[in-house]
Amino acid sequence: MASNIKIPFGNLDRQFASHRETFLKIADEVFTSGNLLQSRAVDDFENKMAEMCGRKRAVAVNSCTDALYFALLTCGVKPGDEVLVTSFSFIASLSPILRAGAKPVFIDIEPDYFMMDLKSIERKITPNTKFILAVHLFGQCLNMREVEEFAKKHNITIIEDAAQSFGSSYKGRPAGKLGKVSCISFDPTKVVGSFGSAGIALTDSEEIAEHIKRLRCHGKGKGENGFSHLGFNSQLSSEHAAMLSFKLDLLKEWMAKRNQIAQKYIAELKDFEGENLTLPKIRKDSSHNWHKFVLKTKHRDKLRKKLSEMGIDTKVHYTYTLGRTEYLPENFKDSARIAEKITKEVLSLPIYPELTDEEIKHIIKELKEFFKYE
Ligand SMILES: Cc1ncc(COP(=O)(O)O)c(C=O)c1O
Repeated sequence: MASNIKIPFGNLDRQFASHRETFLKIADEVFTSGNLLQSRAVDDFENKMAEMCGRKRAVAVNSCTDALYFALLTCGVKPGDEVLVTSFSFIASLSPILRAGAKPVFIDIEPDYFMMDLKSIERKITPNTKFILAVHLFGQCLNMREVEEFAKKHNITIIEDAAQSFGSSYKGRPAGKLGKVSCISFDPTKVVGSFGSAGIALTDSEEIAEHIKRLRCHGKGKGENGFSHLGFNSQLSSEHAAMLSFKLDLLKEWMAKRNQIAQKYIAELKDFEGENLTLPKIRKDSSHNWHKFVLKTKHRDKLRKKLSEMGIDTKVHYTYTLGRTEYLPENFKDSARIAEKITKEVLSLPIYPELTDEEIKHIIKELKEFFKYE
């Protein structure tokens, strides 16, 4: 029987409704000031981010995808360089590598935390291996120490893709503080989501920060007409920056709410764990911002259909491995045994601060009902 209840997977309309007055006031202030780009609001946001992530500099750009691309460029990527990257992530962990003319080399994942497995990949190292893109997934962190030891051993540069894990930490070290440049996303689906596209690059290098600042604004250097480098237009608007600064103050509260929901799902479903259901595991020494709540079940498609009939929207992150990306040149394609198996089993449940108790109850009831018989 279909349900009257409709639980969206999540977007920002409920968040907007909760803080409507504040958002409208911020927009009013920014638009009245007339300073729409390269403003104090952008500087303030960058300073706040640098402080939260323990970095010397932060440069706001239009997306984390651009931040990753700029990170590769400013760290000296050359055509033909090989970049180690996970097989299992959003497409934007791959596209900046290709855009920079480098070659992605895919690493399979460990099944519990869905992140790259650095053990036994020595055979993938070649004299051209120059970078590792350290991608944290679903809201928790890679073992940062292991990544650092690996990079040091092979003399390669770490770029951190912390798009999904802002607010989380590994052994107390925040996501955003690993490697030469770290990149974070504020895309609307993220724990701190902008009302539009937004991203940031963080670094301890003044030189890299200044270089990214030039890249984001047409290669503009010093002086009146100083377009000294080939650049791009990847500026963050003042309005987005000001709204994001306000949202940063809510990060702890939002993470606590997400954690409450995650713990409720786990507590209520743990008796059903076994052959047919695996609940998310939390890595020892990592915290979790619960950007995504991803369970595994071999009945994934059947469960998804049933939840949809009962008014519950879910998503699949991800339906294919990056090594199988359609537009990838044939000689770059690669398989990944564990990641490929997992693409058939993962299901992401709604998890956001504005979910009501009634909605959470409904989701849990339907899941229990399903796993009672599967
Ligand atoms: C792992 C990962 N990397 C990079 C990105 C790119 O972020 P943006 O959408 O801000 O470009 C995302 C965004 O969803 C992501 O999930």
